Amino acid sequence: MSDYTPTPEDLFTFGLWTVGNRGRDPFGHETRPPIDPVEAVHRLSDLGAYGVNFHDDDLVPPGASIAERDQIVARFQRALEETGMRAPMATTNLFSQPIFKDGAFTANDPKVRRYALRKTIDAIDLGAELGASVYVMWGGREGVECDAAKDIPAALDCYAEAINACCAYITEQGYAMELAIEPKPNEPRGNLLLPTVGHALAFIRELEYPEMVGVNPEFAHETMSGLSFHHAVAQALWADKLFHIDLNGQVPGKYDQDFRFGAEGQKDAFYLVKLLEEAEWLGMRHFDAHAYRTDDIAGVWDFVRGCMRTYLILKEKAERFAEDSEIQDALAVAKVDQLGIPTLPEPAETRFATLRKETFDVDELASYGYGHERLDQLVTELLFGVR
Ligand code: GCO
Ligand code: MN
Ligand code: MN
Repeated sequence: MSDYTPTPEDLFTFGLWTVGNRGRDPFGHETRPPIDPVEAVHRLSDLGAYGVNFHDDDLVPPGASIAERDQIVARFQRALEETGMRAPMATTNLFSQPIFKDGAFTANDPKVRRYALRKTIDAIDLGAELGASVYVMWGGREGVECDAAKDIPAALDCYAEAINACCAYITEQGYAMELAIEPKPNEPRGNLLLPTVGHALAFIRELEYPEMVGVNPEFAHETMSGLSFHHAVAQALWADKLFHIDLNGQVPGKYDQDFRFGAEGQKDAFYLVKLLEEAEWLGMRHFDAHAYRTDDIAGVWDFVRGCMRTYLILKEKAERFAEDSEIQDALAVAKVDQLGIPTLPEPAETRFATLRKETFDVDELASYGYGHERLDQLVTELLFGVR
């Protein structure tokens, strides 16, 4: 049995904004001091992470001069070199500044939209400079409360125009970078555009460079909508569109909790890890979560350890699932492998005629059970650690 100690080969990444989260919420002020990004890189590296991600503003405070920016970036780059840590994903903060109160790429004022695009291409440059290969687009303010004030189809046109422009910019600059859209149903806006993975996948098909754009599903966001996270991720994988992932913990029907991975929704977390590992997905296992507001800085590092440890524990459970003969037997009773049998009869030329001729004993086909009670109990006991 492994001792669940992460190494860079596990490809775990954290955001500067996640470990740097200071515990502010809509009702209360910060409960923790800031962490220097260079200190965050060293601590994450010591704990076995592969890399660190950031929004432009997490690293370079808005309003910094070019000289200040260059100095901050050089110091950060030195920390990456010293530790061997990577910065594989970049993103832009298009939600904190008051200018974004009506949205960024979908703000009604074209001047605000142009400012958002300008900020984004600067962040793409910064990401490219630090070696990022994925650019995450989370539309935190792309939404509305007063429905009369937003023409949704026109806003989607603007959203698509901005993403098309980013793809054109990346192509013109010759960067090896792909875009990942991060869906979320609400918060901070009453309703957000592209609320689920399904909406985002459909939207991507309407873009000018659909091959450059995928999704960044987040555990908390699909769960907030009452949806299954691992189903969403499975569909993204099926569509070849899983470009990035945000792992955390969340219960349905609540605010965006962003808890430690596995703190809530353990069963969905298990099926998710099983899915990613069995698919041999090559992306980063990124944690977009933060420590409870009750905790001090020591709690932040406990939170970091916990996210990675839980992932590795669930990975081991997935391996045991494959080796457990009773579970395998129950899977056969549930006919899981029979989904791989083509539905239509061969040969293709006569398939409908053959289908017409086939006889169906509907009573017999409806008579047997699939053994789901036994199967689910076995999985539950596996997760409880009694098998
Ligand atoms: C949230 C989002 C963000 C994004 C991040 C990357 O609900 O706050 O999940 O954390 O993932 O801004 O773009
Ligand atoms: Mn979230
Ligand atoms: Mn996220």
